[in-house]
Amino acid sequence: MQRLSSQVRCASNIPHSFPPHNPSLVRDEFLRPLDTSQLENLDIALKQHRKPENVSDWIAHRTVKAMRVVADAFFRKRYLHRAVTLETVAAVPGMVAGMHRHLHSLRWMRHDGGWISHLLAEAENERMHLLTWMRVTNPTLLERGLIFAVQGGFFSVYFLLYLFAPKTAHRVVGYLEEEAIVSYTQMLQEIDNGNIPNLPAPQIAIDYWNMRKDATLRDVTLAVRADEAMHRDTNHDFADRLLSGQENLRVASGHSPQWTTAQPDDAAAASNASSPSGHTGIKHA
Ligand SMILES: [Fe+2]
Ligand SMILES: [Fe+2]
Repeated sequence: MQRLSSQVRCASNIPHSFPPHNPSLVRDEFLRPLDTSQLENLDIALKQHRKPENVSDWIAHRTVKAMRVVADAFFRKRYLHRAVTLETVAAVPGMVAGMHRHLHSLRWMRHDGGWISHLLAEAENERMHLLTWMRVTNPTLLERGLIFAVQGGFFSVYFLLYLFAPKTAHRVVGYLEEEAIVSYTQMLQEIDNGNIPNLPAPQIAIDYWNMRKDATLRDVTLAVRADEAMHRDTNHDFADRLLSGQENLRVASGHSPQWTTAQPDDAAAASNASSPSGHTGIKHA
């Protein structure tokens, strides 16, 4: 009984050790409340695409494009269901990569260059995306089964990929994030077209992104898309750093990547998701 009461006392103290904002944000802009116009105008380089520069990049890019075809066929325009299901996958790479970097640092008894906290924050951020969408929709039984099956398979494959080809692993995530941005842009258009009701933002989202009390689902989607843009840039940068051999985040990577402003393969996707105003950048007055 004595032991139990001490455990309870200990558990009640845990929240005091949490940082003020938990889980942590991945974008500093969300440290203060943003209105819809500010969310729309976040500098996220909406159509930025990292051009494949070598065989490993090309494999990563084509693999992600193939995954997109499967996801498009399965989910079609059910964007909320797509978001819930795919965020369960998106939250895996950061944790796996963080674990690898942590173990590598222990094995070789040297600093990891500052990556681990970024990777774990990314995993937690993706999990917050999932928990947010879970307040808005409910996955079907089939989707829940798919999540269990895919998690086991994806975790194992990504673990091995990161072990033997970490640069390709980060590039895969960079391209996955480019696709996530396309999907959330299409979801915004569905909201604007009235095909997805623009409900009040769930409280978990208001608390996490410091949103205004009258924030909507559209505002949440803009915030999530901005997070995905940060993941895109971070993972492409990590892949570049592994390429150039500069893993210390305090020092510039020393690699000048080639970026384009649009993915050629996404032209069809963009036209499929055209809105009455014809925009994909969601810049309303
Ligand atoms: Fe996400
Ligand atoms: Fe992401």
